[in-house]
Amino acid sequence: MSSKMRVTINVAQSLNGMIAGKFGRRVQISSQEDWNRVLDLRTKSDAILIGANTVINDNPDLYTGRTDAKERLPVRVLLDGRLSIPTHSRIFDGRGRTLVFTANRERKMLNCDLVYSDDIHIPIPFVIETLESLNVRNLLVEGGSIVINEFLRAGIVDDFFLYTGNILIESDGIRLFEPAITLPGVVQSWERLGDGYVARLDVKKLMGDLVKNGRRGS
Ligand SMILES: NC(=O)c1ccc[n+]([C@@H]2O[C@H](COP(=O)([O-])OP(=O)(O)OC[C@H]3O[C@@H](n4cnc5c(N)ncnc54)[C@H](OP(=O)(O)O)[C@@H]3O)[C@@H](O)[C@H]2O)c1
Repeated sequence: MSSKMRVTINVAQSLNGMIAGKFGRRVQISSQEDWNRVLDLRTKSDAILIGANTVINDNPDLYTGRTDAKERLPVRVLLDGRLSIPTHSRIFDGRGRTLVFTANRERKMLNCDLVYSDDIHIPIPFVIETLESLNVRNLLVEGGSIVINEFLRAGIVDDFFLYTGNILIESDGIRLFEPAITLPGVVQSWERLGDGYVARLDVKKLMGDLVKNGRRGS
C-alpha cells in the first residue's frame, strides 16, 4: 500500500533481546538520556500507537514528561480487537484524544473514540487509512512486540530506532522478535546514549525478512 504517513518504530530492548520480563512484567530499560530522546520523538509525532498488552501490563499515559501544558498532544492510538483493557487505564485520562481500534461493539468506553472493524484482527492498512483521514502525518509505534511485528510485516515502516540498554532480562521474557531472527548487517548506524546505545535499523531488510518468515502475532 502507498502511504503518505511517516511511520517510526521506537523500542528498547535488553542486551539479550527482551522488551519486557516474564508474563510482560515491565522493566526499566531506557537510561535518562534515552528517555529524553523518546520524549523528543513523541513531541514530533501526531499520534502514538500501542497494543492492548502494553496498556494492560504497563498502563502508560504516553504524555508523561511533557512540561508545556499548552503543547499539542499527540493522539493516543490503541489496537484492542477484543476491547479487553481496563476502563481505568491512564490513556483514558481525558488529557488528549484517544482512539481505540476494536471489533467489540458491545463494550462502551469513556474518554475515547472507538473505531470499529469487522475483523477482530484489525488490518494495519485500515488503521493507517483511518489515521491519515485524521491528518496524522507522523505516527510513532511504541510496541509491544506483536504490534511492532505487524507494522513491519505490513511493509509500511520508515524508521526503526532500537535502544539497547545495559541490562539482561530473564530469557523467558517478551522478545522483540519471536522466534528470534538471524539478519546480518541490519544496523545502519548506532551511537552511544547513556549507558546503552541507540541503533537505526535497515527497515527494508527487516521488513523483507519478516514477510518471508511467519512471526509472532501473524
Ligand atoms: N521496551 C519497550 O520499549 C516496550 C515498549 C512497549 C511495550 N513493551 C512491553 O511489551 C509488552 C507487551 O508486548 P506484546 O507483544 O505482548 O503485546 P502488544 O503488542 O502490546 O499488544 C498485543 C495485543 O494487542 C492487540 N492487538 C495488536 N494488534 C492488533 C490488531 N491488529 N487487531 C486487534 N488487536 C490487536 C491484541 O490483543 P488481544 O490478544 O486481546 O486480541 C494483541 O494480543 C508489555 O509487557 C510491555 O512491557 C516494551
